[in-house]
Amino acid sequence: MAIRKIAQLGEPILRQPARPLGLEELQGLYVARLIEDLVETMRDADGAGLAAPQVYEAVQLVVIEVRQNPRYPTTAGIPLTILINPRVTPVANLPQDTLDEEQTISVYEGCLSVNGIRGKVRRPRKVRVQALDKQGQGLDFVWEGFRAAVVQHETDHLNGVLFVDRADPKTLTFLREYERYVAATERIVDGRPSA
Ligand code: NI
Repeated sequence: MAIRKIAQLGEPILRQPARPLGLEELQGLYVARLIEDLVETMRDADGAGLAAPQVYEAVQLVVIEVRQNPRYPTTAGIPLTILINPRVTPVANLPQDTLDEEQTISVYEGCLSVNGIRGKVRRPRKVRVQALDKQGQGLDFVWEGFRAAVVQHETDHLNGVLFVDRADPKTLTFLREYERYVAATERIVDGRPSA
């Protein structure tokens, strides 16, 4: 295992679409090592997730995990989740641009590739996730709330999209100012938290 260097905003690889992994590749050492390194790098950096392009590998692989995380101290945990070739689709009756408050979650997101900046991103609060696990078995589940925001953030990376593209620009803030001026109640606003 190894901690990999994390690409920072401006690196062209962060803007390239990642290629899907073939089933036969999942047996190989390249993918096994990449998964181990993504998990180790994410944990070392206190991230909630990490996508392969962030470590300069343009393939459709993301890892997600929230333990007791200094970056998101108020949220419930997420068990270690490894997603290969994921597809994430909102579970809602309306197109994304007409989602009402109840169907969205707003999170002051950060990103290990956008060091030191947070910004408020509004996303669908309930999504269907379809992917392969590391054995190549199909996964199909629904995530809500903070988990839904995290998986959308990570899979955006596979399409060359960063949270700053989706953030309300007027909410962008450095970490010091975030800690100072963004109240805990504004950091995560889930439209339907008890659902
Ligand atoms: Ni990110």
